[in-house]
Order: sequence, then structure tokens, then C-alpha cells
Amino acid sequence: MNHRETAQALKKAMEFYGGLGFRYLPISEKKVSELLMNTVADDAPVDSGTDETIVSAADKDRALQELREEIGDCQRCKLCRGRTNIVFGEGSSHARLMFIGEGPGRDEDLQARPFVGEAGKLLTRLIEKMGMKREEVYIANIVKCRPPNNRDPEEDEISSCRPFVERQAQIISPDVIMSLGRVSAQSILGMKMPIGKLRGNFFSFNDIPLMPTYHPAYLLRNPKDKWLVWADAQKALSKLKNRG
Ligand code: URA
Repeated sequence: MNHRETAQALKKAMEFYGGLGFRYLPISEKKVSELLMNTVADDAPVDSGTDETIVSAADKDRALQELREEIGDCQRCKLCRGRTNIVFGEGSSHARLMFIGEGPGRDEDLQARPFVGEAGKLLTRLIEKMGMKREEVYIANIVKCRPPNNRDPEEDEISSCRPFVERQAQIISPDVIMSLGRVSAQSILGMKMPIGKLRGNFFSFNDIPLMPTYHPAYLLRNPKDKWLVWADAQKALSKLKNRG
């Protein structure tokens, strides 16, 4: 393969993976530049690690897409009556860190994206302070449709929707999950303990370490407690380091 053919093949591969939602090719930058500079022998074998990464990243994207299709135009609970859009979740399918909130608010319902309102801006700032980009993590909610007037989701709504967030976590298989707020922590853990007691401690969500913390909307009302969320985030970061 000559230089031009290599560049064309790379462009094609990037278009293909771009169509699947990738923002970068799952091979190292060094390998890409080697390929582009035509310094790799034409018949050089692709290393198996690279192959595995491509397969598992593509598989995860496909599995998430299939899960979204399975949810379809969901009518499984009464929240479907008031929603504008289902808010499935967004981010990297191979994120090492996942956030689980409570349910979409007005902005999220309109835009079909999680955490895009004021609370979402605060969450984005937290993610960046943790040294990551928002698109590198995965963000989902316990319920995928907006409860009327932002009331708490009810038991039947949570139990209809919970299998989907469980499947998202299983597919993404992050190293750490941070749950945001009382409703999220209590529904994941099946415990009624106050969030002030749950936060700051690791639990397990189907064998994935789970760190409950306060909801960013609570922090907008109680900015003095931001340091507590930062303390929880640091514990999540050390867990990521240990598992990395
Ligand atoms: N609050 C949540 O719990 N989730 C969102 O997506 C937005 C606000």
C-alpha cells in the first residue's frame, strides 16, 4: 500500500468509526502517524491488542445502540405521557467513569440530552476539575423521561426504568460510578438511608464500585457543600488510579 492508499484507507476507517459515534480511531496516535508517513511495512501484522480494542469499543457502541432501540418509543410507565424526548444518556461507551443522575429536567427533556441545564453545567465543571472531558465519561439517569414539574420519580417508574441503567452500566463496564443525589443512590442501592450518610462511601452496583455523592442541583442551592462532592470525587479518582 502506498502513502496515498494508506491515507485513503485511514480516512475511510475514520468515516466508518465516526458513523458509529467514535470521535477518534481506537489506535495510537503514534501508529497513525507511522502509517501516514509510510514507515510501517505494508505487510506489518496488526497487533492483537489493537484488534481487541476495536472490537470491544465497537461492540459496546452497538450494544448501547441496540439497547436504545429496545427502549423504542417507551410506554412502560406513566412518565411517557408528559415527556417530549426520552433522554437515553450520552458519552463514551468505553468510559472509565460513569455518572448516574435522577431523571431529566426541562432542558434535558427538550434537548434529549442528560445534564444540560444549570445543574449540568456544574457537573461538567466537576468532570473537568477531575481532569477529564465531559465526552470521555458516560452520563445517564435512573429514569429516562422527565417527571412532571420535576417531582421525584415514583417507585413504579423507577422499577420500569432501572433495568436500562443497569444494562448501560453493564455494557460500559466503567471502573467507577458516581451516583448523583438521594434518588439515584437510594434506587441503585435499594436503601432508604439519607444521602448525607451514603455519600463518601464506596458501595457496589453489580460489582462496579459506586460512590454516591450530592446532586449538582443540591449544590446550586447549597454551594457551601461543594467541598464534600470534591472529596467524594477524589475518592473516585483514587479508585480509578488503582484500577488503571
Ligand atoms: N438532573 C438529573 O438528575 N438528571 C439530568 O439529566 C438533569 C438534571
